[in-house]
Amino acid sequence: MTDLSPLDAEGIDAAVAAATDAYQAAQTLDELKEARLAHTGDKAPLTLANRGIGAVAKEDKPTAGKLMGQARAAITRAHDARLAILEAERDARVLIDEAVDVTLPTSREQRGSRHPLEALQETMCDTFVSMGWEVADGPELEAEWFNFDALNFDPDHPAREMQDTFFIDPPESGLVLRTHTSPVQVRAALARRDALTNEGRGIYVVCPGKTFRTDELDATHTPVFHQIEGLAVDKGLTMAHLKGTLDAFARSLFGPDARTRLRPSFFPFTEPSAEMDLRCFVCDGGDPDCRTCSGTGWIEWGGCGMTHPNVLRAAGIDPDEYTAFAFGMGIERTLMFRHGVKDMRDMVEGDVRFSQQFGMVI
Ligand code: DAH
Repeated sequence: MTDLSPLDAEGIDAAVAAATDAYQAAQTLDELKEARLAHTGDKAPLTLANRGIGAVAKEDKPTAGKLMGQARAAITRAHDARLAILEAERDARVLIDEAVDVTLPTSREQRGSRHPLEALQETMCDTFVSMGWEVADGPELEAEWFNFDALNFDPDHPAREMQDTFFIDPPESGLVLRTHTSPVQVRAALARRDALTNEGRGIYVVCPGKTFRTDELDATHTPVFHQIEGLAVDKGLTMAHLKGTLDAFARSLFGPDARTRLRPSFFPFTEPSAEMDLRCFVCDGGDPDCRTCSGTGWIEWGGCGMTHPNVLRAAGIDPDEYTAFAFGMGIERTLMFRHGVKDMRDMVEGDVRFSQQFGMVI
């Protein structure tokens, strides 16, 4: 093939027509790319003609430049028009090929679910965190001293028998599986005593966790259960603060009308001590056949009181300067009456269907 002259208008038109035809004929983006390289690549007639402009006579240069410029514009237009069509076709095809059929059956894989006790425990803590309290932690394998002595249980106090304790071998180890979360009161107070006495920072902590007693597993008992403990130490705290805190706690869990009532009781680590009842949030005391409160109008929820001076002393805090209140309640029990769970065994058997009923929204 003889070289195309940059002044050969007919030849140039023919080359442009050939390129345009090739682009039109391309059925895929790859074919279009091939055609483009063939008609505008290094060895394409138009490329060579363009390169020949340098060799034409000076007076013919403008004509040659104009012819070549028009040719280049024409084939670029033809290419881009075809490109737009092929790309649109490809996009439409991808939409069809990659479409998801949402009506197909889903995979039957079981999703896990958080355990309702854990979720409720977190909800309980959240209430206190929102009031500026801290969440504290303590060991499940606890020193007898923290579990009993520091909490003002006499060595031969009958209360030690009341708590049916798992003692750890050998007996001299002085270790027990904690029978309640109350030992964390002393640990939390010890750890924060300096900030209290030096900086006047009051101690406001809750401690949720596992507790252990030698009970047989049945509908209302389990040897491993959970409690949440609360402790506040500051200057001038009274039973009124305790009552207000418990009411706020009850409202956050049981709704704005929730109420609590205190009944005199005894715990070695509080004086005065009280049992705390919750006004039945189902019948509000109006249904003698109510199954949630057995018709009494009140639900026993936990224990509380003003921390005994000996407990503050055990934590190195002067009971003449500071006062404290504490409370503790069972989380299983709370779950039972808050959600109508009838049998405690459901909570320990680990059947995911039990957890799934609660979803994520406890
Ligand atoms: N520790 C007690 C128990 O396990 C519950 C309790 C009662 C905790 C009174 C307290 C309290 O903090 O002040 O039965």
